Amino acid sequence: MRTLESVTALRSRLQDWRQAGDRIAFVPTMGNLHAGHLALVEQAKQHGRRVVASIFVNPMQFGPGEDFERYPRTLAQDQARLKAAVADLLFAPAVAQIYPAGLERASRVEVPGLSEALEGEKRPGHFAGVATVVAKLFNMVQPDVALFGEKDYQQLLVIRRMAADLCFPVEIIAVPTVREADGLALSSRNGYLSRAERARAPVLYQTLRQSADRLARGARDFAALEEAGREALDAAGFAAEYFAIRAADTLAPPTPQTAEVVILAAARLGTTRLIDNIRQVLVK
Ligand code: PAF
Repeated sequence: MRTLESVTALRSRLQDWRQAGDRIAFVPTMGNLHAGHLALVEQAKQHGRRVVASIFVNPMQFGPGEDFERYPRTLAQDQARLKAAVADLLFAPAVAQIYPAGLERASRVEVPGLSEALEGEKRPGHFAGVATVVAKLFNMVQPDVALFGEKDYQQLLVIRRMAADLCFPVEIIAVPTVREADGLALSSRNGYLSRAERARAPVLYQTLRQSADRLARGARDFAALEEAGREALDAAGFAAEYFAIRAADTLAPPTPQTAEVVILAAARLGTTRLIDNIRQVLVK
């Protein structure tokens, strides 16, 4: 598996594959690869003859005071994992390849509506950063399919909308969240947790699960469930940022017609910010 750093080299390699009629499946990442990323690569192999992964810690999607500087960069380990997973190519550009005129002067892709609540409210500018870099990567790789984890559920919907609105001829495939045995969703940020915080972290998933179970048993007072979720997280030593029940397809507040919801939560445990979600069908 080769690692390419320039867009020119990437395009030339991909051109050969495209001329040979190979379908290209793309897995964009920020590196520090774990089993959740490798599940994306596994799925990618079902959808394309060639699997291209990218590693780029995208400065545009980090706000001031966030963890851009300390985000784990583990290229050699990631290359070994991708090779073992039998990916065909890694694109690992420097910031200047992606933003040649600098971050401030770069054109941006905005996805209004979907980007504004929840993560978008807590992390202003985050989804413009995500949509911009994913649009640029789609233009560079021109994949037939691209795979994203459901762990970042709002991001998945934002990217789907961006790809549809900008007419990218790419199929977006969602891959279920991979969890530790105790329920904690895999995330590169889990590595920031102290031993004591790691022991407490599964409470995030357990709290989402309890809320989903109540919905499955017929509870429909969404505001009360949200409040109970926030209180449970705070009582367990988290600082809850949001605990929200939304329509799974639009992220709008659910109505009596809503068939499926997603329960999304963000909470801080010490200095680490964790997010997770669960979907639940509402039986009428
Ligand atoms: O989910 C991620 O790792 C990133 O947000 C993405 C989609 C690779 C864009 O930088």
